[in-house]
Amino acid sequence: MLSTNPHRNCCIRPAPLGYNAPRGVALSEDKIIAIYPGSFDPVTNGHVDLIERASKLFDRLIVALLLNPEKDPLFTVEERVEMLKEAVKPLANVEVDTFGGLLVEYARRKRARVLLRGIRAVSDYEYELQMALMNRQLQPEIETVFMLPAEAYSYLSSHLVKEVAQLGGSIRDLVPPAVEARIRAKVKSSQ
Ligand code: PNS
Repeated sequence: MLSTNPHRNCCIRPAPLGYNAPRGVALSEDKIIAIYPGSFDPVTNGHVDLIERASKLFDRLIVALLLNPEKDPLFTVEERVEMLKEAVKPLANVEVDTFGGLLVEYARRKRARVLLRGIRAVSDYEYELQMALMNRQLQPEIETVFMLPAEAYSYLSSHLVKEVAQLGGSIRDLVPPAVEARIRAKVKSSQ
């Protein structure tokens, strides 16, 4: 059966017969749900680039923000969700959500078959490999898919964006305009 996502029919085939869906994971051959998890503190143009690319491959993409009380984020969960929602507004098959606990459990509840992660450089690989293999160990039928952002964003990270902004540098081409304004406001209020 052809996918309802016109971009996907040429690229990814439906799950082959015999594909063993994990309990609770949809075996609806015509719909592939992917989850793009992360901290997104804040969302950068690199994240947005990856989301745009993935929205063309998967029928439904859930950008899932980790609720992690241990980290000390610059933005609250609500602020990060707002910024993400603003950034993905033009993409009809992309939604924003939050999750806590194990990622694979969240994916199972959402009936997602794919975990999406971006790899910018070789340095990302080791950490991503560990996570992907751990997630596979926990839930073998959920696949991690790695995608590359545009080369222009291969050096970009939320951490560096925050550092540059805090030290007065320009972040104009690094984050969506609404995010830039919010970072500026945060930096100003903390000075
Ligand atoms: O953008 P980040 O901070 O690198 O994202 C890390 C994230 C959210 C993908 C990772 O911390 C995660 O999946 N956390 C959920 C907890 C979990 O499932 N841990 C076990 C698998 S490694």
